Amino acid sequence: VSPLETLPAPQGADPAGALRRIEEEIGDCRRCRLCEKRTRIVFGVGAPDARLMFIGEGPGVDEDRRGEPFVGRAGQLLTKIIESMGYTRGQVYIANIVKCRPPDNRTPLPDEVATCVPFLLQQVAAIRPRVIVCLGTPAAQAVLGTRETITRLRGAFREAGGIRVMPTFHPAYLLRNPAAKKEVWEDMKRVMAFLKSEA
Ligand code: URA
Repeated sequence: VSPLETLPAPQGADPAGALRRIEEEIGDCRRCRLCEKRTRIVFGVGAPDARLMFIGEGPGVDEDRRGEPFVGRAGQLLTKIIESMGYTRGQVYIANIVKCRPPDNRTPLPDEVATCVPFLLQQVAAIRPRVIVCLGTPAAQAVLGTRETITRLRGAFREAGGIRVMPTFHPAYLLRNPAAKKEVWEDMKRVMAFLKSEA
């Protein structure tokens, strides 16, 4: 069952303030071992009232240095995808399952995900996006509460807690497998059509 089903209650009409309070609560986080090797916590960026949110796996080396999600090579591809959809990075919200870089870019461990995801859920509760795009298997599994992999999950909306979730391939995967860009674009067209139908 998706943790979105038990989203914290909406925090009122001040999503920017709610996000600031979540960031304060995280503080100089020492709740899991990822704190030991991180340079910076990568909280998330974008519009506090975004209708569209992207969730990745965790910061890489560039993100760890800059304190901003998706700024490396995969991030530049994500920015291109966002812009092809007709948005800027500043109009959507971008975050990750874990806020600190896993050493050697390994996949976050279950206890690290369990420790960090409540903060992501608070961010989702503050922003209240209409659509969440999950980038890659770890994001899709954590957000949807499933053990299915992205190949099976991608391409179809799920609904959880009143939010539409579209799992798709991670841009780092697209860098290795450019042919899969076609599928991601199909998925993003579904997202665009849904957002347009709601506007
Ligand atoms: N990959 C991710 O999953 N997240 C980032 O922020 C950067 C690369």
